[in-house]
Amino acid sequence: MTEPLPLELSHVHKRFKTGFLSLRTATAVTDLSLALRTNEIVGILGPNGAGKTTTLKMVTGLIFPTAGEVRLFGEPVHRRAARARMGFLPENPYFYDYLTAEEFLHMACGLADMPLAGRQERVTAMLKRLGIHHARALPMRKFSKGMLQRAGLAAALIHDPDLVILDEPLSGLDPIGRRDFREIILDLKRAGKTVLFSSHILPDVEDLCDRVAIIVKGRLREEGALTDLLEHGTRNTDIEVRCEPARGELLAREFPTLDCASTLAGFRLGVPVGENLQELLGRLIALNLEIVSVRPHRLSLEDLFVAHAEGAPPEAPPEREARDEGAKSAPDGEPKSAPDGANQEVES
Ligand SMILES: Nc1ncnc2c1ncn2[C@@H]1O[C@H](COP(=O)(O)OP(=O)(O)OP(=O)(O)O)[C@@H](O)[C@H]1O
Ligand SMILES: [Mg+2]
Repeated sequence: MTEPLPLELSHVHKRFKTGFLSLRTATAVTDLSLALRTNEIVGILGPNGAGKTTTLKMVTGLIFPTAGEVRLFGEPVHRRAARARMGFLPENPYFYDYLTAEEFLHMACGLADMPLAGRQERVTAMLKRLGIHHARALPMRKFSKGMLQRAGLAAALIHDPDLVILDEPLSGLDPIGRRDFREIILDLKRAGKTVLFSSHILPDVEDLCDRVAIIVKGRLREEGALTDLLEHGTRNTDIEVRCEPARGELLAREFPTLDCASTLAGFRLGVPVGENLQELLGRLIALNLEIVSVRPHRLSLEDLFVAHAEGAPPEAPPEREARDEGAKSAPDGEPKSAPDGANQEVES
């Protein structure tokens, strides 16, 4: 029998009731489907307010979808057994000020129902792994932001979960903290675990993720291996030539299809995909222009992110506000009822 997927979101929607008397609703996530395979690292990317935290909260069972389904290891997320195999680092974890890091991790052991025997060893090992063992007896109100983030990650991993969900794990960390966290995330993969994390720090996503999912205004815009996503973006080639500024006119006349920009040394010509590069270079040489460099310009994750974040949403804007009745009679297959009355979160 094949092992069930660690995580499966199927056509998940989330609407929040907002405003006075909760008469309005705001859509945070629309028709999101995403599956994670065992032992992969997937990054969720999206601008502020895209719905990343909402999605991760639904994955961890902290809030429930208005419609659609979340399954962990083949089980519905509301089953405790499914959640037991999952660890979560929230975006803004809450810490008890007067607990020490050691006490906090013991509390996490208790919440995870870990057997009493072996807890102390595990707590000590995690304090050491996260580099806060020296501060184990310090009340956490005296922790710096980075130390708190480390304590939060230690708590998320204390019960050795198979699926690890991290909301912005790298934000607020200094370069050493980021390096340590990246190493821990890679170690999780090496140990056969599955990781889903959200981030704004694109180089980290590029280095860590097997796949990325880009969410904008609550909708999944792209999903796949980074190499594939970047592959099907346009790949221009930049040719840099050294010459007198006066030759700009000649270049513009001779090469009207190229994007010509001045540089300190001369000009940079942007060659669109489809142009015959060899022929172009031959013509430039024939004009006695010194070619300094020829660089294929690959679409970067940043380009992709910005393009999606700035692009128009695929259909009507998902961030709609509607009267309560509107939510119930949504015509487009949108949520009609909330399981467990779960979408009761109200913006104060
Ligand atoms: N409890 C809530 N009640 C009402 N609206 C909410 C609630 N939680 C989130 N939202 C709305 O849902 C949308 C998505 O928010 P979410 O926190 O998921 O975004 P995000 O992608 O995590 O953003 P960021 O990068 O800033 O953390 C936002 O428009 C937000 O205002
Ligand atoms: Mg967030």
